[in-house]
Amino acid sequence: MTTLQTQRLDLRPFAESDLDEMSALMANADFMRFSLGVFSREQTASFLEKVRARDRAALPSQFAVIVRGDEHLVGYCGFFLQNVDDMEELEIGYRLDPSYWGRGLATEAACAVRDHAFNDLELSRVISLIHPDNIASRRVAEKNGMRPEKQTTFRGFPAIVFAINREERNGR
Ligand SMILES: CC(C)(COP(=O)(O)OP(=O)(O)OC[C@H]1O[C@@H](n2cnc3c(N)ncnc32)[C@H](O)[C@@H]1OP(=O)(O)O)[C@@H](O)C(=O)NCCC(=O)NCCS
Repeated sequence: MTTLQTQRLDLRPFAESDLDEMSALMANADFMRFSLGVFSREQTASFLEKVRARDRAALPSQFAVIVRGDEHLVGYCGFFLQNVDDMEELEIGYRLDPSYWGRGLATEAACAVRDHAFNDLELSRVISLIHPDNIASRRVAEKNGMRPEKQTTFRGFPAIVFAINREERNGR
């Protein structure tokens, strides 16, 4: 699977050896904001296994986000396959270590993943599913060129579907 590089980040496939660092992140309530809550080590292992199974099958998957230079794993950014209003959609999702928030890193990672979607994977459309109260994530989606398309209910929670398609992206 591909590794993506941005100005400050390396986005690489997850490895089994990421379990310790990912377990610490997923046990952090801020890292897990706007989801179902913190994960145990076992839940994190199962998350990583799902991600790595998609990598092995050469399907669009999550990247481990590494800050180049200090080599810390600071979170994930990449693709989840989601069923939204009975349609299969590829979502760009992201979570970062709270001590790295507010530096533009999520925007940098999400833009690289969007470019990968259109340039390398030749996808026609990607979305992000965002709780209306999640202002930081809404800004990341906007800065990623996405527009709010509709409001829906996703896994029992209100969510705005932010979307961008290939034509819109080419017109930018
Ligand atoms: C969402 C998240 C990934 C953003 O990470 P980040 O690296 O801090 O984001 P950026 O630095 O790229 O900032 C993006 C924009 O959001 C804004 N922003 C960041 N935190 C904010 C906050 N708490 N309130 C309002 N705006 C905020 C930034 O100012 C920036 O906008 P600007 O360029 O117009 O100033 C991070 O907050 C996070 O991991 N949150 C918990 C998990 C989560 O909610 N994931 C998304 C699920 S849909």
